[in-house]
Amino acid sequence: MDKVGLITGGGDSPGINGAIRAVVRKARDEDMDVVGFKNGWAGLLKDDKEVLTRGDVSGILPIGGTLLGSSRTNPFSVQDGPEKTYENYKKNDLDAVIAIGGDDTLGVAHKLRDFGVNAVGIPQTIDNDLAETEYSIGFSSALTQVMKAVDQLHTTAYSHHRIMILEVMGRDSGWIALFGGLAGGADSILVPEEPFNIKDVKGRIKEREAAGKNFSIVVISEGASPKGLDQQITRETGTDSFGHVKLGGIGHYLKDQLDAILEMPIRVTTLAYLQRGGEPTAFDRLLATRCGISAVEFCLEGEFDLMTSFDGSEVEPVSLEKVIANSPKPIDDDLLRMKDLFY
Ligand code: F6P
Repeated sequence: MDKVGLITGGGDSPGINGAIRAVVRKARDEDMDVVGFKNGWAGLLKDDKEVLTRGDVSGILPIGGTLLGSSRTNPFSVQDGPEKTYENYKKNDLDAVIAIGGDDTLGVAHKLRDFGVNAVGIPQTIDNDLAETEYSIGFSSALTQVMKAVDQLHTTAYSHHRIMILEVMGRDSGWIALFGGLAGGADSILVPEEPFNIKDVKGRIKEREAAGKNFSIVVISEGASPKGLDQQITRETGTDSFGHVKLGGIGHYLKDQLDAILEMPIRVTTLAYLQRGGEPTAFDRLLATRCGISAVEFCLEGEFDLMTSFDGSEVEPVSLEKVIANSPKPIDDDLLRMKDLFY
């Protein structure tokens, strides 16, 4: 094992740089070279790269985003994409590729196995929807931003006796909304896993009012939808190269629905990219460090088509096939029920 490639793909999140740093430090310690490919799979497809030294990764641990750049490039939706990717893998004398990303990026890593690429995945997505791992890099940082936003909305909500709707990311999963909302003490949390009933949302607000609380904070996932509406709300048409539509707008949809049945002032905040940017939490830095080191160890052991999975205590190998087959990871029902207690 002399040389590994490294790519970071999909939506970025705080913590990726910590994983890049750990991969480079561990690999160099083992006398291995690391070639960083730019902007996700696009870098390996186009042979756009730079050799990463210890100096290159110095000081990047606390910095959000990714030093290597990211994109949602899917080699499998490009003419001869997998073949070209493999060509560049061979041309660079790579023994393996470490891919940092979510289900799309790691799905490509898994499929490239059939073309001769040895890959190890590191879970990274603010959505925390990757199966077979308790946590993915970026989730802790994103939910911390949601928590802080809920804290800030509280002070203005109680001052103006308003309903504050906070729309958060997460695609088809409600992990960010649920954990961020619980951490911030939101009064209603609406997630894609449970289509909501507008009258129930009003009911909770009214119950709080009856108990003397004339304001409420509602956290809603971008992928949530009301019962009976068989589609998610989107503001843009078209899909990315993995076939995903761009979600967004459910916060304003909810406001319109509530306005029609509730005589209280309502305001909407869309947290958007603020929850993906900024510095990683201590948890994400440590998770990234541990996963980066483990990924290099798996390569040294000749174990591929795996992901570094964190079960809450240890980082263990888990097959990428299983990860892809079982993603997105549903929220455990016990966790979901916790939100019903707080309003
Ligand atoms: O997967 C991470 C994520 O932030 C989702 O929560 C969100 O739906 C999507 O990426 C936004 O994608 P883009 O960065 O392409 O706008």
